[in-house]
Amino acid sequence: MELRARSLHPVFAAEISGADASRPSPDLRDAIEAMMDRHAVCVLPGQTIDAHQQVAFAKTFGALESPPRVRGSRGARTEKFPPEIFPITNLTEDGDIQSEDNAARQYRLANALWHTDSTFRQTGATYSMLHACVIPPAGADTEFIDTRAAYDALPETTKRRIDGLEAEHSIWESRGKLGGYTPTPEELIARPPARHPLVKVNPNTGRRSLLIASHVSHVVGWPRDEGRALIDELMAFAQRPEWIYAHRWRVGDLVIWDNRCTMHRATPFEDSKYVRDLRRVTVREFAAA
Ligand SMILES: [Fe+2]
Repeated sequence: MELRARSLHPVFAAEISGADASRPSPDLRDAIEAMMDRHAVCVLPGQTIDAHQQVAFAKTFGALESPPRVRGSRGARTEKFPPEIFPITNLTEDGDIQSEDNAARQYRLANALWHTDSTFRQTGATYSMLHACVIPPAGADTEFIDTRAAYDALPETTKRRIDGLEAEHSIWESRGKLGGYTPTPEELIARPPARHPLVKVNPNTGRRSLLIASHVSHVVGWPRDEGRALIDELMAFAQRPEWIYAHRWRVGDLVIWDNRCTMHRATPFEDSKYVRDLRRVTVREFAAA
């Protein structure tokens, strides 16, 4: 299958033409994977797919996550969507714009921090696939960092220092930093922390990348302050402008990013005035326990 890539940034990210997500196939999957290994963020514009077609397309890449129900949100498990859909939306169950004190809005605020999807899960994630249904007139770009480029540029002494280290990641760590979403005791039990290497290796290309960002609470086996200082140092290093691509959304965009080698964050928009409604599915890196 012949796909064409138009570069969106000097280091990574490309717009892909010739792909129709409504017609999934092993050939299309292989062609997209090859593009992803190179570009890490791929934009498939003009995709007219419903939630079921998005899930069917994503399933060709592996098993999908079942997102948790977040209080106050349009439910992931309503009859409207298959259970693998994670609505990225400022709408309530009833289709109204969420009020400022809505729990799902509070939960969503931490998406403004640099993060990598699902590092707080033991099963990790390879690709997130986000499809844009309604986009506000201004703001709400998604910014991405290529953490392969950041890793490559690290001093050799730092590479040696972090080789073999593991970090602990928790959804409640990032939610504690920003936003007022307080987990219930049941949510705390249902979503425990997970440990992952600080340096990821792409099994297809052998390229290394940093796996850090806002879900990280500490470095395993290190005093908390020292681990925190190391993560802060790596985060500051990785945020160089030359490694950041800002995606300006258009309705119909299906943006795929590789969570093993990127971080991303949401940028603000007038969320009490305009609707922003997107649907995400996430491919698991490892089988569920
Ligand atoms: Fe995210």
